[in-house]
Amino acid sequence: MIKVAPSILSADFSRLYDEVQKVEEAGADLLHIDVMDGHFVPNITIGPPVICCLRKKSSLPFDVHLMITSPERYVDDFIKAGADILTVHVESTIHIHRLIQTIKEKGALPAVALNPSTPLSALDYILEEIYMVLIMTVNPGFGGQTFIKGMLNKINKLKDKIVAKNLDVLIQVDGGINEKNAREIVKAGADVLVAGSAIYNAQDPACVIRQLKNLPHV
Ligand code: DX5
Ligand code: ZN
Repeated sequence: MIKVAPSILSADFSRLYDEVQKVEEAGADLLHIDVMDGHFVPNITIGPPVICCLRKKSSLPFDVHLMITSPERYVDDFIKAGADILTVHVESTIHIHRLIQTIKEKGALPAVALNPSTPLSALDYILEEIYMVLIMTVNPGFGGQTFIKGMLNKINKLKDKIVAKNLDVLIQVDGGINEKNAREIVKAGADVLVAGSAIYNAQDPACVIRQLKNLPHV
């Protein structure tokens, strides 16, 4: 089944825990937490203290997407705060291979994100080492942007690579996903869908989550 990871970036931050509980009860598989530093991306969001507070109240797996420069400085803090999956951008660090090993050693599942303009070849010597690839389908920094259609082909090519190498790596897709375009994204090879505005701005978030989860998984 397709896994759905609601992004709390689109939640009402003044009622953060209620917003987490809302998607937990609505059938979310993971909680996608977008961390931005105002340097790697032009926006600033939340850090380890907030994640630590949520961890005490929620039993959802925490899928922490780091959009920060030199993420190796904070891996320990995010894992201690409660990250189950820790996603780092290949563009944000020099020693991505080392960073993946560090994440594993510290007990989290490593995932690697690619910006829209970053080629799949960036994964060439690390694909075997990771739990998940995150294909960005908007330029990171903000929720509510439009899905970049050209990324469907990128998802498809990544799926082919994973199948050809007979790997277990998941493909997560993030940015501009909604009930209308999710079908073709899943058809291209996505296993995990991140959705912020499509879920949090919906009248009935549970209905959106259900629709996304029930798409035919390839
Ligand atoms: C963008 C973030 C996304 C974002 C998705 O930089 O990584 O996770 O919250 O939001 P929507 O689904 O509204 O594009
Ligand atoms: Zn994200």
